[in-house]
Order: sequence, then C-alpha cells, then structure tokens
Amino acid sequence: MIQLVEVGGQRLAVEDRGSGWPLLLVHGFPLDHGMWAAQIESLAEVARVLAPDLRGFGQSDPLPAECTAVTMARFADDLAGLLAALQVEGPVGVCGLSMGGYIALEFWRRHRGRVGKLILCDTRAAPDAPEAVAARFQNAQRVLAEGSSVLIDSLLPRLVATETLAGDSEVVAHLRRMILEARPQTVAAALRGMACRSDARPWLGAIDCPTLVLVGQHDAISPPHEMQAIAAAIPGARFEMIPGAGHMAPMENSSATNAALKAILTP
Ligand code: MLT
Repeated sequence: MIQLVEVGGQRLAVEDRGSGWPLLLVHGFPLDHGMWAAQIESLAEVARVLAPDLRGFGQSDPLPAECTAVTMARFADDLAGLLAALQVEGPVGVCGLSMGGYIALEFWRRHRGRVGKLILCDTRAAPDAPEAVAARFQNAQRVLAEGSSVLIDSLLPRLVATETLAGDSEVVAHLRRMILEARPQTVAAALRGMACRSDARPWLGAIDCPTLVLVGQHDAISPPHEMQAIAAAIPGARFEMIPGAGHMAPMENSSATNAALKAILTP
C-alpha cells in the first residue's frame, strides 16, 4: 500500500508492505521507490518493508519553488522523520542504493541508534572529485533548461550492464520511465546535494552493526574494487558480488540480490 505521510511540512509517499522487523529501502538517483519492486515483493515475506520516494521524487510532494539543493543530510533526516511519523520505534534495517547509499551512510552518522543493520548497494563512500562536482552543477543547469530526458543518453547506459542494456527490455524501459518522470527541479537539487556530500570514509571503521556491502559485477559507477574497500573498512562487513548485473543490481539480478538481502535480514 502506498501512503502519503506528512514529514517536516511536506508529504512523502511510502510503500509499506509486510510485517516484522522494519527495513527502509532508499532509492538511487534520479529514480523512485519503484526500483525496489522485486525486493518489496520478496522481502515483505520476512520484514516490514518501507520504501519511500525521497523528498521531491516519485509521488512525494514537489519541492518548494525556492529549493535549489537537497543535501544527503536533509534526505536522511526525512527518513528519521518518516519513521517517527509512522511510529516505528527501535533499530531498523537501512538499505540504500547509490545516492540511497550516500543517504544511508549519512543516516547512520546522524541517527546511528536507529540502525540495526546496514546494507550498502552499489554506492560510494568517497566524495566527488572536483571535476565531478563541476559536472554535477553543469548537469543541474542542463536538466533545468532541457528537462530530465537529457539524462537518458548520458546516464542510462552507465546504470546497467551491457548485457542488460542489450537484452532486458523491461528493466531498461522501467529505468527510462522513472528518469523521464523525475521532476527537473528535484533532479537538479539532488545533483547539487550529491556534489557537496561528506566523505564517509573516515567513519566507516566506527560502523558497528551487521553490514552487507553488495555490488553488481559490472558496476561502472561504483566498481566492485571500490565497494570491496568499503567492506574492508567496516568491521565484520559481508561483501557480496551480484553476477550479470551493473549498477542497478537489485533490478538486473533480483533473485541473487533478494537472496543476499534475506541472508542478512534473517541470519
Ligand atoms: C545513483 O545511482 O544514485 C547515482 O549514480 C549516484 C551518483 O550520481 O553519484
């Protein structure tokens, strides 16, 4: 069931399925909670799955007109607000992909008492290099001027493995739909927010909850060697490589991803 929940003066859409221990699924850029469809279906058998559309994305309210950037901290605090609004108490599982992973790391830093298990999918702990920051600001301007469709050529081919691009038309069509439906103002605000995100590497060693680091074998954005380094820096973290998948491992190889997620959720 998708419901609209009032959080800090705006409404966030959230799909709330299943029962048991709560698990937050935090989507990547510039997508919405629909990227987790296969996980919501499968994990609702073992958990209460909460899959929100982040501020300004999907079916959540548009950003206020004056908003030009949304930081990872703001998104993370929204998630804490969402849990409070839903009266979800105690530690929860937090699983984020890519931008959702930046937010999950920030959530851990700001609300660590709320994190019982952490799952980092296809994400990075390092901040952007200066050229990447400049490119994000340029892309933000471009999306505002020309619309979210400009991301189809530049981003979509990098999101999935070559074999997915060539063969899995439903995954590619779904990604295309989510990108085209993303509001340009939100896309630009998230780009600017990602550009100024914190370097999470210094605090990886302090993460003290069970952690899974998961990456698609062919991820070109957050490559396996970089994710392996994240896992090595987090005490006791488990590392899982998803075969035949790129950056969007949960969509491209949902059965392997679901099995890895179930293994950490129900040890
Ligand atoms: C994502 O999938 O969320 C993006 O690739 C993250 C990014 O642009 O750094």
